[in-house]
Amino acid sequence: MEKVQVFAPASVANVGPGYDTFGFAIERLGDIITLTKRNDSKLNILKSEGADLPTNPEKNVATVAIKALLDSLESEQGFDVHIKKLFKPGSGLGSSASSASGAVYAANKLLGEPYRDEELLEFALEGEALASGMIHADNVAPSLLGGFQAVRSYEPLELFRIPTPEDLRVLIIFPDVEVKTSEAKGLVPKELSVKDAREQWGNVGALIHAMHAEDYKLMRHAITDRIAEPVRKKLIPHYGQVKQYALDHGAVGFNISGSGPSMFALFRSADAAKACMTEVEKIYQKADLRVLLNLSRINPNGCQVI
Ligand code: HSE
Repeated sequence: MEKVQVFAPASVANVGPGYDTFGFAIERLGDIITLTKRNDSKLNILKSEGADLPTNPEKNVATVAIKALLDSLESEQGFDVHIKKLFKPGSGLGSSASSASGAVYAANKLLGEPYRDEELLEFALEGEALASGMIHADNVAPSLLGGFQAVRSYEPLELFRIPTPEDLRVLIIFPDVEVKTSEAKGLVPKELSVKDAREQWGNVGALIHAMHAEDYKLMRHAITDRIAEPVRKKLIPHYGQVKQYALDHGAVGFNISGSGPSMFALFRSADAAKACMTEVEKIYQKADLRVLLNLSRINPNGCQVI
């Protein structure tokens, strides 16, 4: 195989209480990465579509991730890399994770699949670290492997997958302002009181149980956050109003997606979400702010050849 094209889904990280721990993949939004083998060892970034991405291979998350993979194989293979973004970087939907995951997934295919998908995680994380200034796996894991992923441990890195109800739908609400993950990370407190921590881990446990048991009442109670939401919500226009509306009109969970400004709302069906979409559009229309809405399932698939 000389050329491959891959879809790498966007993802919602944190999911309320699971700061740097929980993340799920969504449908439709993501990156389309096209990799072509070269006859030399160069990593060449072609002009990207949908965003202006760095063309220096040391500054682009996709090529940094591919380089980590090549180094571990002691391979000198070069690639032309084309990235098409179906959503904006800085929107809180794991843009750098989609690029890094899609790039290593595609490179692994062209190299004859020396690694299993789970083993590609560490290479994708090197790309992700370039963008956010530190390693966090809660976007890379779902983008690469699909579904709802939980990081049980960072040292050593260990993940598990949480089943989700078939009917559950995710509404992404993206008001068109940019929040950089590296800056949003800086707002998060370095320490947590035991009082806050016990609420947080209670909700982490509750959310896992709610997903297994399809207990929507528990899900709604469990999707809260004492770590990131309190300090980040001020970066998101009309956060409180939109959250209140969604929760009053059928949402079974609402919070910031990753570092924002996107928000996610969970619903028991697509119909339940649709009524909320119209009202959310109105809120942002009144404020003269563009908003993008995406309604989908939790994507059971991670990166896939298309
Ligand atoms: N867990 C990360 C954070 C996700 O909240 O900073 C960034 O998309």
